[in-house]
Amino acid sequence: MKGVIAIAMRDMVIDKFGREKWEEGLARAGINKEPMLLPISDIEDSVVLKIVSALCDVLHLSQEKLADEFGDYWVNIYSQKIYASYYMGCNNAKQFLLKMDNVHVITTKNMLGAHPPRFDYEWEDEKTLIMHYKSSRNLIDFLMGLIKGVGKFYGENLKVLKIGTDKVKIEFPY
Ligand code: HEM
Repeated sequence: MKGVIAIAMRDMVIDKFGREKWEEGLARAGINKEPMLLPISDIEDSVVLKIVSALCDVLHLSQEKLADEFGDYWVNIYSQKIYASYYMGCNNAKQFLLKMDNVHVITTKNMLGAHPPRFDYEWEDEKTLIMHYKSSRNLIDFLMGLIKGVGKFYGENLKVLKIGTDKVKIEFPY
């Protein structure tokens, strides 16, 4: 996974829970010295998953809750500093989420070693979207947290339901 995700996770934990918790999480994941991280660095998926699991233990949070905290931070704070233009170009959560497949392709095109998640879109009716998640990483809880973060950003009360290991149903209020 690209370093940008790990950097955002680190910043989220430090901002919301304190630096000691981040350091405790790393130690619990068996990482004694924090490596220098750049947004384009590559971190093995297994290491990222180990850190996620250690952070859940240290913070006493389920993976769903940690993913919600991350999704909120990534959408509303971290990505606003570097990717704000993607949000500006959309008037609502629906438009933004429909761009996500393309945005992941575009933003990782020149990042060697990236394997971005891909999304297929299926409309159940005009207010109900099923987002099919295609990734070998099985991070559907993170997908859920990120979608909730998008709802918050656009001030919309989205209903987000996990309906399988690779699909999420989103009910829009409009
Ligand atoms: C402008 C906003 C966003 C940008 C620029 C962005 C970019 C990225 C990048 C660079 C990665 C790492 C890919 C890799 O290491 O191969 C990633 C991972 C991920 N992104 Fe986004 N992302 C954005 C918003 C979102 C949103 C809103 C969602 C959900 C709807 C989402 C879902 C995910 C998931 C689930 C992953 C984890 C990797 C996986 O499951 O395979 N992202 N994103």
